[in-house]
Amino acid sequence: MPNFINAFEEDVYQGLTAYPKKLSSKYFYDEKGDKIFQQIMNMPEYYLTNAEYNIIETHKKSLAEKFAGPTGFDLIELGAGDGKKTKVLLKYLNDEQYKFTYLPIDISKYVLKDLKESLAVELPNVDVQPQEGMYFEVLSKLAEYKHRKKVIMVLGSNIGNLLHEKAIEFLQNIQQSMNEGDLLFMGFDQKKHPQQIINAYSDKAGITEAFNKNLLTRINRELEANFDLDQFLHWETYDPETGTAKSFLVAKENLKVTLKKLHLTVNFDAWETIHTEISQKYDDHTVNWLAERSNLKVIDQFTDDNNLFKNYVFSI
Ligand code: AVI
Repeated sequence: MPNFINAFEEDVYQGLTAYPKKLSSKYFYDEKGDKIFQQIMNMPEYYLTNAEYNIIETHKKSLAEKFAGPTGFDLIELGAGDGKKTKVLLKYLNDEQYKFTYLPIDISKYVLKDLKESLAVELPNVDVQPQEGMYFEVLSKLAEYKHRKKVIMVLGSNIGNLLHEKAIEFLQNIQQSMNEGDLLFMGFDQKKHPQQIINAYSDKAGITEAFNKNLLTRINRELEANFDLDQFLHWETYDPETGTAKSFLVAKENLKVTLKKLHLTVNFDAWETIHTEISQKYDDHTVNWLAERSNLKVIDQFTDDNNLFKNYVFSI
């Protein structure tokens, strides 16, 4: 086994030498992947964004009342993104003169810089304190601030990209940074007509296909590989029993791919798969089970007008 210089190299090596082959969806998000994901969020088929926007827009008053603390509150967002949905809430809190600080956490300093700049123009009175770093490092640092109420926010059903055991670890980590009275506000995409889910993850325009295949482009560039994107299909499945949507890249023929930087040659049989992502869909039963396993309590929930998506409020 070669000496790996970073986790990406090691994960790609392990994933492509495993059977069945797999790659982690966390590697979708390089500069190009971030841009494609923005396009996905604007696609008509990708109902998640509008549904969660609708929840925040409709329930902003109740949310503000729930979030408020006696001496104000810190609104901490994990995975800030472009903040389109969050801005609806920030604007309301600002208009209604709630006392709060907004702390977006992201590993990308570029994302944070763009967000800070756009907020300085759109909502100049909001106190914004971006926190660059890994979620849990920043969260454990913030856990030491016990002076006022914390509301931790995770939008976009990002938790759905984790297998249940990892999702529980994620929730447990958040739980450990919460004190009595703090809240967690989190989005969970819901089970629904299977066709609607399939359509959201295999759009006709091929944007999700490009997103999935960007992983191969990234491997080609960073690991000096020679994947031919046209030799792979993007394929989506959804199991209505478990609520798990899965993305695959499927080899259309027998292939040999070389990853020079890893001194690795990978053979594909025709129709062999690389599993790249799960996007879990939930129901109340599953969310309550996850909460229980993480020592969290579901204390409230909000849904959109079409019952597609839910945001749950948790306390410790
Ligand atoms: C970021 N995450 C919640 C998205 C999802 O729905 O699983 C990523 C995505 N993958 C394909 N389309 C969108």
